[in-house]
Amino acid sequence: MMKPSVLVTRRWPQAVEAQLARDYEVTFNTGDRPLGPSDFRDALGRFDAVLPTVTDRIGADALDVARPQTRIIGNYGVGYSHICASTARDLGMTVTNTPDVLSECTADIAMTLMLMVARRAGEGERELRDGGWTGWRPTHLIGTKVSGKTLGIIGYGRIGQELAKRAHHGFGMNIIVQNRSNVAPQVLAACNATQVDTVEDLLPQCDFVSLHCPGGAANRHLINARRLDLMKPDAFLINTARGEVIDEFALTQALMFDTIGGAGLDVFDGEPRIAPDLMQCDNLVMLPHLGSATKEAREAMGFRVLDNLADFFAGRDPRDRVI
Ligand code: DGY
Repeated sequence: MMKPSVLVTRRWPQAVEAQLARDYEVTFNTGDRPLGPSDFRDALGRFDAVLPTVTDRIGADALDVARPQTRIIGNYGVGYSHICASTARDLGMTVTNTPDVLSECTADIAMTLMLMVARRAGEGERELRDGGWTGWRPTHLIGTKVSGKTLGIIGYGRIGQELAKRAHHGFGMNIIVQNRSNVAPQVLAACNATQVDTVEDLLPQCDFVSLHCPGGAANRHLINARRLDLMKPDAFLINTARGEVIDEFALTQALMFDTIGGAGLDVFDGEPRIAPDLMQCDNLVMLPHLGSATKEAREAMGFRVLDNLADFFAGRDPRDRVI
């Protein structure tokens, strides 16, 4: 029997690529450069499955193909706001993602950002590498204690819950959550968390606010100037979700005028381009979208795509079908 043809849009961990090569007629993007809309249209006419990731912008233009050969888009990553859901649905395509396997590592990065920005670790490392450290003194780079503070989590899905575990059980933090739907009482109880109705209810109560909601149009600029004003003047904002969830211009103003304590960002609107003004903010820690960047998570994400493909081509509903 002929193996299904598969296009992988970026390089994946070696172990996963090896299995893909065994199971499918696979084409790898050996240059590891993001594809453009016309590359996609071309791929949709030639491959049974396309396996993209967050760096691929698969808008309506990239899906503008009359009779695609592609029947499944197996996304490598949990977020899929880069794929135009309505067009994929109209084309009758199946779309899958890779939840669960990156939740712990992404929560670890959110915790890393909280600690780095509160304890001024980025500033300290820059000072030391620049040769500017003159030695220990009682007043040097004084930060903010993390343990025992109040953490607000916006979006209490798998990653938000993993962060709550770390923050509550590891750092004794008090957890407040805001989520689209009601969170089950036993899930809240696991971290002694309290759910509030709105973002407006959450922000003024928190020393740290961490974003774990989906990206896309629905949550674009969820955190805007008005909501930044609701944060305590010494509170920290953390984003490991999607760049567009924060209005970066408003955030830059808040950081420059010290109306919040600081921020930690792993994702950016229009990444990898970084708004030049953000670069000027010392009370900001930035990481290059490292949430799931561990050997364990990245391999597990790849194998999860393989599971979804195997189900699909065997005629079963893939476990991670989102469209
Ligand atoms: C995702 O999975 O959506 C991340 O942003 C990449 O790990």
